[in-house]
Amino acid sequence: PAPGWSIDADVVVVGSGIAGLTAALRCAATGLRTVIVTKARLDDGSTRWAQGGIAAALGEGDTPAQHRDDTLVAGAGLCDEAAVEALVTEGPQAVRRLIALGARFDADPEGRIALTREGGHHRRRIAHAGGDATGAEISRALVAAVRAAGIDTVENALALDLLKDAEGRAAGVTLHVMGEGRHDGVGAVRAPAVVLATGGMGQVFSATTNPAVSTGDGVALALRAGAEVSDLEFVQFHPTVLFLGADAKGQQPLISEAVRGEGAHLVDAGGTRFMLGRHELAELAPRDIVAKAITRRMREQDVSHMYLDARHFGAEAWERRFPTILAACRAHGIDPVHEPVPVAPAAHYASGGVRTDLAGHTTVPGLYACGETACTGVHGANRLASNSLLEGLVFAERIATSIADAIATASADDAPAAAPAATAPAPAAGPGLLPPEARATIQRVMTAGAGVLRSRASLADAAQALDALASDVDRKPAEPGAEAWETANLHLVARVLTAVATLRPETRGCHWREDHPERDDAHWRRHLVVTLRPTPE
Ligand code: SIN
Repeated sequence: PAPGWSIDADVVVVGSGIAGLTAALRCAATGLRTVIVTKARLDDGSTRWAQGGIAAALGEGDTPAQHRDDTLVAGAGLCDEAAVEALVTEGPQAVRRLIALGARFDADPEGRIALTREGGHHRRRIAHAGGDATGAEISRALVAAVRAAGIDTVENALALDLLKDAEGRAAGVTLHVMGEGRHDGVGAVRAPAVVLATGGMGQVFSATTNPAVSTGDGVALALRAGAEVSDLEFVQFHPTVLFLGADAKGQQPLISEAVRGEGAHLVDAGGTRFMLGRHELAELAPRDIVAKAITRRMREQDVSHMYLDARHFGAEAWERRFPTILAACRAHGIDPVHEPVPVAPAAHYASGGVRTDLAGHTTVPGLYACGETACTGVHGANRLASNSLLEGLVFAERIATSIADAIATASADDAPAAAPAATAPAPAAGPGLLPPEARATIQRVMTAGAGVLRSRASLADAAQALDALASDVDRKPAEPGAEAWETANLHLVARVLTAVATLRPETRGCHWREDHPERDDAHWRRHLVVTLRPTPE
């Protein structure tokens, strides 16, 4: 739709989690006219729900090299080693800058940053705040800094499409603003640099730890703009999400890995610790291994969940260390001090996303991506726990540096990332807008067909159901509106995810194919990269 109003800027940042706010703060600090657009309020989004913490080699005896090694193991052969190196070496300083900005992390009795453990980490490396409210504290500090810096923000604004100039470079974004405010309806922010930091796509599945705003908007926008998207098949299912019934839908309460890091046991209904003997790290194995073990045990025993037993922490430790989780469990009638907590895996994190190089450039000049929306290469086939906040921080800073350099020298700094080694056949663009009611169908078919366990047959069922939705839309397009656009985004990312998951006939990281249970390094140690085929005129 044609924009009814517009704002001019040097940089528009879409999204307001750790990645978006950090990019905006750093761009504004170099004097760039910066505008943040965000779909809800500035403090909505996934960052504020993060519990466990932020991983960095901050502890005595820990080194970036050890952090790198754990990250590479979790990534199951598909990490970009240069991206991982940047993450782990720049990470500690980036966390210290966050502290200097005002974020308050928990301290040990000696006043040093307190560090916990999570899955896949061979040592205590996770800084946390408020016990288990790390994301909320980071979000609070960043939002306060953005407000103090007076950065222009447009809230309740869904980014629709990329604007391009005559040379095909990014020139801004169109927005649909929902509700009262300075702007309303469809408008645009015009800027030569566009940073996508819209978070994840957990709402593609029925049960997820992601908030309602995580509808894959950045990936869908980038696909429509012709950018490459990579590794979308690697959806991480968090092993321990509070189980509230087989029909539970939407955002579900997370039970942080840090609970296992502090010694909680995973047990079945008979009280048996089934992770013992499966992996040297037992309950603290990388998250794909734990999620698979839980799912296997559930199938063997024909039950809908397992249990996390941390009664031995006692009331004082629960209240001090995990107040958010304790309150969430109690709100649902479960008291972890006195009973094991029912848990099951749920969709948690998109390890893939819009493909970028180490400076955050996508393959469309002037378009950048960071945070969960991006695929920088640090996660490979499975993200290491608590590397996501760190990735948002480190790569947002890198993007700000490259935008500032490009604008200062008026140079075309943003050479698109190098051509990929292997690409997937491109799905066609379209259909148009989907009716909001289609969302429940997308979530149901994706959970059944492309969830924690997949096979060629289950993926084909999902693809067929998604195609049927597209045919319905071709017959009767939905009315324009924010929910219809969001549903179209969910549908597009679901189609691409299903297509690449079908193309990868192996089990690797968090992509688990029942019909191909082994990892196949000889043929599949490579990425599946997708661009959208334009719809014929
Ligand atoms: C958690 O606290 O378990 C989540 C950490 C993460 O997703 O990195």
